[in-house]
Amino acid sequence: MEKNTHSVERANAYINNHHTEVNLEYKPEKHFSAPIGWINDPNGFVYFKGEYHLFYQYNPYDSVWGSLHWGHAKSKDLVNWEHLPVALAPDKDYDKDGCFSGSAIVKDDTLWLMYTGHIVNEDGSVRQVQNMAYSTDGIHFEKVEQNPVATADLLPDEVIANDFRDPKIFEKDGRYYSVVATKHKDGVGCIVLLGSDDLLDWQFESIFLKGEVHQGHVWECPDYFEVDGQEYLIVSPMRYQKDGNDFVNINSNIFVTGHVDWDKKVFVADSFKEIDHGHDFYAAQTTQGPEGERVMIAWMHTWGRPLVTNDLGHKWYGIMTLPRVLKNSGDKLLQTLPQAVEEAFTTVAIGQEVSVGKISLPITGTSTYRLGNNEDYLEFGYDAEREEVFLDRSHLIIQFSGEEEWSTKHRSASVKASLIDVFIDKNSIEIFVNKGEESLTSTCYIRGTKNLR
Ligand code: FRU
Repeated sequence: MEKNTHSVERANAYINNHHTEVNLEYKPEKHFSAPIGWINDPNGFVYFKGEYHLFYQYNPYDSVWGSLHWGHAKSKDLVNWEHLPVALAPDKDYDKDGCFSGSAIVKDDTLWLMYTGHIVNEDGSVRQVQNMAYSTDGIHFEKVEQNPVATADLLPDEVIANDFRDPKIFEKDGRYYSVVATKHKDGVGCIVLLGSDDLLDWQFESIFLKGEVHQGHVWECPDYFEVDGQEYLIVSPMRYQKDGNDFVNINSNIFVTGHVDWDKKVFVADSFKEIDHGHDFYAAQTTQGPEGERVMIAWMHTWGRPLVTNDLGHKWYGIMTLPRVLKNSGDKLLQTLPQAVEEAFTTVAIGQEVSVGKISLPITGTSTYRLGNNEDYLEFGYDAEREEVFLDRSHLIIQFSGEEEWSTKHRSASVKASLIDVFIDKNSIEIFVNKGEESLTSTCYIRGTKNLR
């Protein structure tokens, strides 16, 4: 068997020696992206010693998925990110085929990471286990001797044990809990709850929430949290069944509203809602900021689509969405931008050439805007008759058909709009409707001039 030669040192040396080879043409200015290589899910998003830390699924060596490390950066304002050394490399038997997604928690001034070790056995079968690592300086991480701290042996028979990943930790009444993605034998998504008093010895607590057949078969990247007293679960379902304007991407991301019955340790779900109605939004993760605010960030892509910047040979692929603060307003969960993030964009006007900028557009009736030039443009706007805000990639030269058996060119959110706030950052657009009631997030790779008209 080929020897695994991964290490944090090797990854950091590679990044230092090669990051200048990246082609910056489509690389964002105001969104997080890695110095070189591939990124997917945000991981371990946390506020530690006065700064936000963001980790992410990272393959420094290539702009495609593979040999997953945890990349790492920090920021005081969620706009300016400082790249830090790679935090985790797949260098142990229990994570040899990838340090998969997970989360972070601060305990006694120490930053703890809980992540999934992905192991491919010689016969090709897969095993996923949960591991812990910690750091006191917030830069160098040590994997604990007790790893793996949770294996599929803990799980009841009704769960398919080779999908067991993406632990998201939280604390309640002095005990630590972790929601983890699995697949139920009934072929549906299933979130399990693990519990621990010390972060090292973990027990199975419950089947936290089991999905229904139309809701997809694995619910990746769970996250449980509260916003102003209302409880939510985020999950990223694979193949949630398309329903009108919802779940048009086969891999989507949802907010589940409900509450935990702590006697039974189950999540009682009230409603399911797609988080974002654009083409590119997956694996959202949240953390709590210094004022108690809930900040969410997601991967601004989804699976099964062409990897444009890789195919162009630009040596990077993957960006994160803008960080969004979640707020409750009546029965709506609003996604708002932190002030520093909003202020990082300069205001632009219709008729202007735009590479990076923001614009607020009051909506009084049907309106269509274009970003690009006559040969190559993205369309967005509002259809007053259908009461839909839309984003349309039909007229882009670089097209994006994915694994979906239907067209995803046109995406829309059903909402009566009075205002849209639009943020453009080279290869991406994020539209917030009625101050965050709905959002549409998409990438677009336009050649030549980008006029807004
Ligand atoms: C979600 C996901 C996770 C997994 C990771 C691997 O995008 O599939 O479930 O941990 O990516 O990179």
